[in-house]
Amino acid sequence: MAAILEIGDLFFRYHDGTPALKGVSLSIQQEEKVAILGPNGAGKSTLLLHFNGIHLPQQGFVRVDGEEISQDNERQVRSKVGLVFQDPDDQVFSATVWDDVAFGPLNMGLKRKNIEERVSSALQAVGMWEYRSRAPHHLSYGQKKRVAIAGVLAMSPDIIVLDEPAAYLDPAGQDALFAILDDLHRQGRTIVIATHDIDMAADWATSIILLKDGQILAQGGTELLVQDDLVGAADLRFPLVSQVFQEVAAALDLPLPRTVDEGKKMLFKLTRH
Ligand SMILES: Nc1ncnc2c1ncn2[C@@H]1O[C@H](COP(=O)(O)OP(=O)(O)OP(=O)(O)O)[C@@H](O)[C@H]1O
Ligand SMILES: [Mg+2]
Repeated sequence: MAAILEIGDLFFRYHDGTPALKGVSLSIQQEEKVAILGPNGAGKSTLLLHFNGIHLPQQGFVRVDGEEISQDNERQVRSKVGLVFQDPDDQVFSATVWDDVAFGPLNMGLKRKNIEERVSSALQAVGMWEYRSRAPHHLSYGQKKRVAIAGVLAMSPDIIVLDEPAAYLDPAGQDALFAILDDLHRQGRTIVIATHDIDMAADWATSIILLKDGQILAQGGTELLVQDDLVGAADLRFPLVSQVFQEVAAALDLPLPRTVDEGKKMLFKLTRH
């Protein structure tokens, strides 16, 4: 299957001289659900800001659907790749919630009726329909994050990239968000998130990328999250379910569960008589 997003030897240094990315290469296949993990300051947000041309490579390349991102095709790239920033205060700026979510579709030059449909369904999806006339800067942080997510949903991009999407969302809001993301994934979208939530990543992702000090430590399946050396190197910990079953799985030479469902199955197997 062709890579929908490909990054080669990407370097990026901020104006003050901080090197944030030091030769990152990775490849994301269409219809994957990718979780990028790594410690604070690893470069996750800086990397995601390259996915839709907000940062342009200082060295190396970013290709979306085979086309290299440059100043000349930023607009086109942004209709293909939707990015929800880590901090909603960097993203939500219009006078009303409705205007904010309508901003992207308006810029795409869509017809009024189509825009209205997109905005109302995106606001309903994130539970913010009731707040459509409110000023975003008077909302709670979690509510602003929901509005920022709605703004990207309304664009309906092929690749949806979210920086810490669950942070500040209440548990029901987190469940609703991942239900939406899974729905979009079933419709053929590629989803990429940066997160510190190892348990969620183990349960949700089809592909894991570990980043530290601006470099890729590993890319693979969720089995990476139970590899002692990697988990230590990336300042992570094992998923909680894996921790619960670690000794018993080793003693019985069984594969270590990584998700709640796998844990339940193992428990059932062990207690069945
Ligand atoms: N605007 C900026 N100017 C200068 N340096 C920056 C800027 N933004 C980030 N950095 C630095 O770049 C490096 C990577 O930061 P980045 O925000 O990408 O990390 P992160 O992995 O997203 O961290 P977190 O888990 O805290 O969100 C860090 O050393 C950070 O201090
Ligand atoms: Mg970040």
